[in-house]
Amino acid sequence: MTPPQRRCLRSVVRGAGAYLPPTVVTNRELAERVDTSDDWIVQRTGITRRHLAGEGETTSTLALAAAEAALRDAGLSGADIDLVIVATSTPDYTFPSVATQVQAGLGMHGGVAFDLQAVCSGFVFAVATADKFLASGSHRRALVIGAETFSRLLDWEDRTTCVLFGDGAAALVFEAEEGEGTVHDRGVLTSHLRSDGRHCDKLRTDGGPSATGTVGQVRMNGRDVFRHAVGMVTDVVTDAFAITGLTARDLDWFVPHQANRRIIEASAEKLGIDPAKVVVTVDQHANTSAASIPLALSVALADGRIRRGDLVMIEAMGGGFTWGSALIRW
Ligand code: UT7
Repeated sequence: MTPPQRRCLRSVVRGAGAYLPPTVVTNRELAERVDTSDDWIVQRTGITRRHLAGEGETTSTLALAAAEAALRDAGLSGADIDLVIVATSTPDYTFPSVATQVQAGLGMHGGVAFDLQAVCSGFVFAVATADKFLASGSHRRALVIGAETFSRLLDWEDRTTCVLFGDGAAALVFEAEEGEGTVHDRGVLTSHLRSDGRHCDKLRTDGGPSATGTVGQVRMNGRDVFRHAVGMVTDVVTDAFAITGLTARDLDWFVPHQANRRIIEASAEKLGIDPAKVVVTVDQHANTSAASIPLALSVALADGRIRRGDLVMIEAMGGGFTWGSALIRW
């Protein structure tokens, strides 16, 4: 246990909300379009279905719906928020940011709003960034959103990628609150972010505004990503344990990025986390990139698993490579 430090500002979760587009596509339906099978997808990834954005739905409309739900849950309105961060790699437009579109949708004209791009690690990066703002005292209430429409970036002829992803958005509202500076405080207790650009070609799009003047499509060396994933995420989770003096046994819930059930199970096993404490939604949502962790949190909140005071570890790894963890007392 870490010794008590001077009083500090903690980023405490005030509310959560999610939005999934109503269109659901099962593996069997996908197998009618590309050369794949329900068996292959389930065995290699754990995915059974995914939600896909429909006509008129974009990352900003998903993000706004999630933001409104999170604000309702917190009993707050846009006017109470002074920081909006949207983690996304699939913005509606190159600019303006999705965050300013959300701000407009909420009728906000104060505070600061920006997007953050760290692909599948985006939500962990956004939570860590918001926490730095709130802990410094510069901002008081943050809306942190993970929102993606990866379906718009997929090559629907490429079976090695198109079966893996889904669309969705989810959000948390954080409020700065004074804590004791111990691990018993509510709020974000620690966060650990890393990246290694040597791997930036392994998971990428083959286009972009400056390189090609197009959006491009997802290209991935799945085996290479898989090979690095478990080591990277367990490293940053171990960092969070080391700095707080907490252990896998102290965790109530482990809410990893939802890319592949095999990666999730191997990471939990390596960390010594009881499988009963692992929240898995990849089967229902597929990989929704920056939205996957807040979507998984929203499911575990809605079904009563995550409760006030619970110790929750989130972690992710994604394109770049980027990876990170954050330990939150709910
Ligand atoms: O969010 C962070 C980033 N993403 C990830 O974390 C994804 C990490 N990677 C993975 O999850 C896995 O590597 C995949 C699920 C993408 C692939 O699983 P794998 O066990 O690594 O399979 P593989 O790429 O080694 O492919 C095995 C075989 C290949 O056939 P051959 O060469 O053995 O004849 C593929 O062509 O499976 C074939 N294959 C498919 N077959 C049916 C690849 N995709 C499909 C498919 N349906 N959709």
